[in-house]
Amino acid sequence: SRLIILGAPGAGKGTQCERLVDEFDLAHVTTGDALRANKHMETEYGTPASYMDEGELVPDPVVNEIVEAELEAADGFVLDGYPRNQDQAEYLDSITDLDGVLYLAVDKEVLIERLTGRRVCSNCGANYHVKFNPPAEAGTCNECGGDLYHREDDQEETARERLRVYEENTQPLIEFYRGIGELIEIDGEQSIEAVWEDVKTAVQSEV
Ligand code: AP5
Ligand code: ZN
Repeated sequence: SRLIILGAPGAGKGTQCERLVDEFDLAHVTTGDALRANKHMETEYGTPASYMDEGELVPDPVVNEIVEAELEAADGFVLDGYPRNQDQAEYLDSITDLDGVLYLAVDKEVLIERLTGRRVCSNCGANYHVKFNPPAEAGTCNECGGDLYHREDDQEETARERLRVYEENTQPLIEFYRGIGELIEIDGEQSIEAVWEDVKTAVQSEV
């Protein structure tokens, strides 16, 4: 399948994608991870870090190029963190067809708590939360033993700015995809397991 997973920062996109890619054998195309891996790369717009550390969007040409290259190499995929505004959605439409758009709906105050408590594996990228999904041993990844870190943009002030940017730029895409009949809305405030059951059922009904 060719899917998008939409949702605010902290909605659980990365957490659900870890399971989705295994269960359905999809490529995980995530602009956030790709940009973090190239944070200090010089582009004609400056480095990605200069935008990301402020919680702002990296300019469209930079992310469009990443996505186009990754989609060329992928058969089935789930897009995580892209598109993030109307221009990116139109660009995506010009390069591929979609089977469905999953939307994880979560209230704003829940998002702040998820973001500020998140920990990420520096080795394999697995996601944890100090309260909602703690690792077996504090600071250490269950999957690979790597060290966990706190993302710079998960400090409360930057997290709030990311939510503002999301509401202004990305939220309108929900109505856009609902309008063309591709949106599948999932209650993202349930437990990680319960969200996963809904995600799995939705994708199975698409394929
Ligand atoms: P990106 O890395 O894409 O960040 P994001 O969209 O803000 O998403 P997150 O990774 O923060 O959240 P998530 O939904 O994956 O949540 P997670 O599963 O980790 O983007 C970072 C930056 O890169 C942007 O600010 C921008 O600068 C740039 N960028 C990226 N893409 C771009 C684009 N297309 N255009 C321009 N710029 C771009 O979960 C969060 C926490 O909650 C975890 O701790 C997890 O354990 C926990 N959790 C998850 N699910 C549950 C649950 N059901 N119950 C309780 N806890 C849960
Ligand atoms: Zn790991």
